[in-house]
Amino acid sequence: MSKRAQTDELFNLDLIRKYDKAGPRYTSYPTAPMFHTGIGPVDYAASLTRSAERDMPVSLYMHVPFCDTVCYYCGCNKVVTKQRERALPYVDHLLKEIDLLADTIGNRRTVSQLHWGGGTPTFLNEMQIRKLMSKLHERFHFVSDEKGEYGIEIDPRECNEDTVHILRDVGFNRMSMGVQDFEPAVQKAVNRIQSKEETLSVLKEARAHGFQSINIDLMYGLPLQTTETFNRTLDTIIGFSPDRIALFNYAHLPRMFMPQRRINVLDLPSPAEKLNILKLSINRLLAAGYVFIGMDHFAKPDDELTLAQREGKLYRNFQGYSTHADAEMLGIGITSIGYVDGAFYQNVKALDQYYEVVDAGTLPVFRGYQLSDEDHLRRHVIMRLMCDFALNFHVVEEKFNIIFSEHFAVEIEELADMDKDGLLELQESSLTVLPAGRLLIRNISMVFDEYLRNRQQQVKFSKVI
Ligand SMILES: C[S@@+](CC[C@H](N)C(=O)[O-])C[C@H]1O[C@@H](n2cnc3c(N)ncnc32)[C@H](O)[C@@H]1O
Ligand code: SF4
Repeated sequence: MSKRAQTDELFNLDLIRKYDKAGPRYTSYPTAPMFHTGIGPVDYAASLTRSAERDMPVSLYMHVPFCDTVCYYCGCNKVVTKQRERALPYVDHLLKEIDLLADTIGNRRTVSQLHWGGGTPTFLNEMQIRKLMSKLHERFHFVSDEKGEYGIEIDPRECNEDTVHILRDVGFNRMSMGVQDFEPAVQKAVNRIQSKEETLSVLKEARAHGFQSINIDLMYGLPLQTTETFNRTLDTIIGFSPDRIALFNYAHLPRMFMPQRRINVLDLPSPAEKLNILKLSINRLLAAGYVFIGMDHFAKPDDELTLAQREGKLYRNFQGYSTHADAEMLGIGITSIGYVDGAFYQNVKALDQYYEVVDAGTLPVFRGYQLSDEDHLRRHVIMRLMCDFALNFHVVEEKFNIIFSEHFAVEIEELADMDKDGLLELQESSLTVLPAGRLLIRNISMVFDEYLRNRQQQVKFSKVI
């Protein structure tokens, strides 16, 4: 079947209209709105201590919230400031938090994955980057450059050739760059003016320094975007030939994200135009040789993400799709979320509070969620659906000691409707998502979300497409 025919099957407009409702992106299950303050630093310390006994490699996420200017669409946890000195106390407290963590989980615990996210991690200067990295290396043991995945989010406007050199020198080997759109009118409407030249120069420098799996973030649904304008952005991006492309659906939630109120809703593309942009993008990226991964990623056929998807070894975490097994994750810095000993833990969100708690020698966790056996089961089902677009009931039965058809009788009934609609194929011992269900994978996963079903969770999510 031609690639064009394949994508035509993805776009069944009637089905998309029928099923397109707000839903989680399932970077975790249960999702963050279920976290509660009944869980705090004492529970976190106990979980870290228990984790110390297992001594399995962990994954580290460090959040650097600062940005020089605000992009109006942004839904990330950020602090917008021109005052570079605001990074000073933040770095000092990150150093303290790293010590607190290592004191509890055990010195020199093995790390196989590190991610610095933001905000804009390169808001930090060279000295601050080096200080943080040497503290991490002092208190944790990092596996070799060939085996470890050490990534950083880059805003090309906050990064030059020297920065790339420094980042490689301190051990980063993966990079993800924010672009979104190259069209001048769109860039103006979202207050993010970023040239093709500065973006390409960072990309080239990163390649020259041996960064692997270089990713570019794009977004569809932004103000003033049309298929015609986005086609031009795609021309440029395909010309740059990054290893991976993430194509995010703009989540417009102005009640939650203040800067989005500066976007004129009349400038937003209509749902039909958004779908056309999505269709165009998928067609063009497949034609350019990329493989569609998970829900919103594209990767070259030889990229580790593609290989992981093919082998059923793709995972999903707060950073999106990952090739690293479902490891425990420690969050460092404000708002960051970790997953340790079967529980989620989230750090405080305000800088002042973060400084105060860390200065008192306490882990800065303010809420979390301890998964029940039922949560673990549903988390597994949703993760496999989001990554594999298929589910083998026998594997789930063996892993969780249940009879799938009995345990999920209500869900199977709901899935039967989706089967009739051609979204998926339900068999006695398996579920396979069909092309028409691919873009609706969040809706299929939502069937297994116990908290949505029981309406325990307020709907605060963006539309699926
Ligand atoms: C922390 S930012 C990337 C790093 C860096 N701050 C930058 O902007 O280049 C992570 C990504 O989240 C995506 N993102 C931000 N706000 C979003 C929204 N409202 N809806 C969907 N994706 C969004 C963007 O694609 C962005 O590149
Ligand atoms: S998209 Fe990146 S640079 Fe822009 S405000 Fe958000 S975190 Fe900051």
